Amino acid sequence: MLIKSSQNGFYHPHASDITPQALYQSRRDLLKHLATGVAGAALASWASREAFAQSGAAALRGAKSGVAGAMTLDKLTEYKLASSYNNFYEFGTDKADPAKAAHTLKTSPWTVEVEGLVKKPARYALEDLLKLSAQEERIYRLRCVEGWSMVIPWVGYSLSELIKKVEPLGSAKYVEFVTQADPRTMPGIGSKVLDWPYVEGLRMDEAMHPLTLLSFGMYGEVLPKQNGAPVRLVVPWKYGFKSGKSLVKIRFTEKQPATAWNRTAPGEYGFFSNVNPDVDHPRWSQATERRIGEDGLFAKKRKTLMFNGYEAQVGQLYAGMDLKKLF
Ligand code: MTE
Repeated sequence: MLIKSSQNGFYHPHASDITPQALYQSRRDLLKHLATGVAGAALASWASREAFAQSGAAALRGAKSGVAGAMTLDKLTEYKLASSYNNFYEFGTDKADPAKAAHTLKTSPWTVEVEGLVKKPARYALEDLLKLSAQEERIYRLRCVEGWSMVIPWVGYSLSELIKKVEPLGSAKYVEFVTQADPRTMPGIGSKVLDWPYVEGLRMDEAMHPLTLLSFGMYGEVLPKQNGAPVRLVVPWKYGFKSGKSLVKIRFTEKQPATAWNRTAPGEYGFFSNVNPDVDHPRWSQATERRIGEDGLFAKKRKTLMFNGYEAQVGQLYAGMDLKKLF
């Protein structure tokens, strides 16, 4: 994001990052299973072999999603990389900081308040939120504005399931997502890098789109703290920063919410933040990306796809909009 370190400028793979052949093969087998509909147990055991010893980590499985576009066959990023190369500024700005520091995050008890322009505002205990709809497994690409991407099997359900329960009023045009900001458990909150709490927002139709995922887990496990436990958003066609971690409030509003990155650097981070190779970040191109764990320093970068490859599913949401102005 705003800060550039040697780590987020370039990614140097370590020997330990290179996938052993056996693991690679088991991942191909897993993808075949997923493609043929036999997900679940195979994924959970495969992931738990690799999983970091996370206190509180537990299996969280879901059936393969039937939502259009939700199951890319791209090679999965290794769990170890997905859970150790993170942006979670509440725990520091270096990619390695969250995995080291996020153990202090207290994820239980946890509540998410749903408020604002809805008929049925509610305060959900995490346990109730988990049960609100069936958990699904979805394999999404997540692309960061910094120019790297990952492929992660997330577990959760469409945010629209929750939205339907609280019955938004006709005047609700946007949804604001407020995340945890606790200086006692989040060392980064003392820094001035952002105006805390970390807030994100979506237009109502974006929030209702079936691909917008309320996620509780990844790789068949509950979310590691550094990936946004106990509940986060994953919006696969937008830059990663729209996917707020450790959500505590979901608020329905008439006016477009002031998001944390937009408030901090309005010229660099717009409200929509759709992955768009044709709109450069003011300080760097967005035309290509590095897939974490696959692309070495000298490897050819991948071309970034419009809407991160989800154009068929979400392109119509932006018909008629000037996406160069409304970036
Ligand atoms: N959510 C909070 N609360 N704080 C953050 O700093 N970083 C965002 C997003 N959500 C962030 C956040 C950014 S910039 C990215 S790229 C993704 O989380 C990274 O998610 P990951 O660590 O699971 O890959």
